[in-house]
Amino acid sequence: MQPLQRLSVALLLVAFGGAWLVCHAEEPSALPADSAIALKDVFKDHFQIGVAVNRAITTGRAFRRSPEEVQKDVALVKQQFNQIVPENDMKWQLIHPRPGAAGFEFGPADAFVEFGLSNRLSLAGHTLVWHSQTPDWVFQAGAAANGPRASREELLERMREHIHAVVGRYKGKIKVWDVVNEALADGGPDILRKSPWAEIIGPDYVAKAFEFAHEADPDAILRYNDYGLENPEKRRKLMALVKSLKEQKAPVMAIGSQAHCNVSITFDAMDQALTDLKTLDLPIYITELDVASSIGGQRGGSAAPGGAAAADKRLAEAYAGLFRAFVKHHAAIEAVTFWGVNDAVSWRAQGRPLLFDGNDQPKPAFDAVIQTAAGK
Ligand code: XIL
Repeated sequence: MQPLQRLSVALLLVAFGGAWLVCHAEEPSALPADSAIALKDVFKDHFQIGVAVNRAITTGRAFRRSPEEVQKDVALVKQQFNQIVPENDMKWQLIHPRPGAAGFEFGPADAFVEFGLSNRLSLAGHTLVWHSQTPDWVFQAGAAANGPRASREELLERMREHIHAVVGRYKGKIKVWDVVNEALADGGPDILRKSPWAEIIGPDYVAKAFEFAHEADPDAILRYNDYGLENPEKRRKLMALVKSLKEQKAPVMAIGSQAHCNVSITFDAMDQALTDLKTLDLPIYITELDVASSIGGQRGGSAAPGGAAAADKRLAEAYAGLFRAFVKHHAAIEAVTFWGVNDAVSWRAQGRPLLFDGNDQPKPAFDAVIQTAAGK
């Protein structure tokens, strides 16, 4: 080999080595969980990036995961997210399991708040009034185990006491609350679902809940939160509900769109949903995002065809479509919150619906989401 030839081979090798390094450094699936790429940084000019946390994460005590796994989950929360919401610990059943002022269990909720404040994360509260995960005594006369149902006045008073106790305790710390969750009916002509709240109090229970929360913390942002808003029919009901709340002068201040999706979700569907929601002129929060890789209802369904790699690819495409829509409408979106830190702890674990796998490693969907921040 002539000296010149030798030089060009050497240059080629250097160039190739450099290119290899760059490619390798940019490949997120090769990155360890402590990599420098963080969702919260990449989207800092668009919206906050949140995550629902469970009790193991907020207390550091192992539950269904090993202590090492919990430690890794905690590290991932701190690294990737700037906002948190408790997955279960502020629901009535858990925070107020027994009747009366002595019936509260604030320990786990306090641990959530402490975890968030000490890690400088924004806090959302979830949820004050819901038909699910609410003890039966709430709807009974005298809070008895059985017998007649409570009257409208009794239930309103119980709701007021509960909201004042919970919102008041975290006043100034929890800046945004899901006040009423999932009040809308699926299918049929009714706007509101036939929950005990609606049956006993009447349709103004939604407005009343917002009034009580506003009394308890006038500075808190009060959200109405529901699922299925990608569906035009459900959205129409949401618009009707919010219009009626505004007519009742209820202090509804933001829309929470849960966004429990399946891989069939498209950019167009989310783009249209956000375009419609924006007409309400309220800030939008994506509150419970996950995308199940299986076909079926909210909680799962059958496994995706084509094996794990095909499922990963479809999930990445679905997430890319969603985030392209979120980025397009970012001026109206305050936060995008994932419902769980990784696939292993997800309520839809079967559908592997999140950006991180059970070892807290980023999946191809993580990379696809990151790309959308740059308008790709
Ligand atoms: C789910 C939790 O993730 C589960 O751990 C629990 O068993 C049931 O509730 N909509 C909501 C959330 O508003 O509170 C639900 O969370 C998921 C659907």
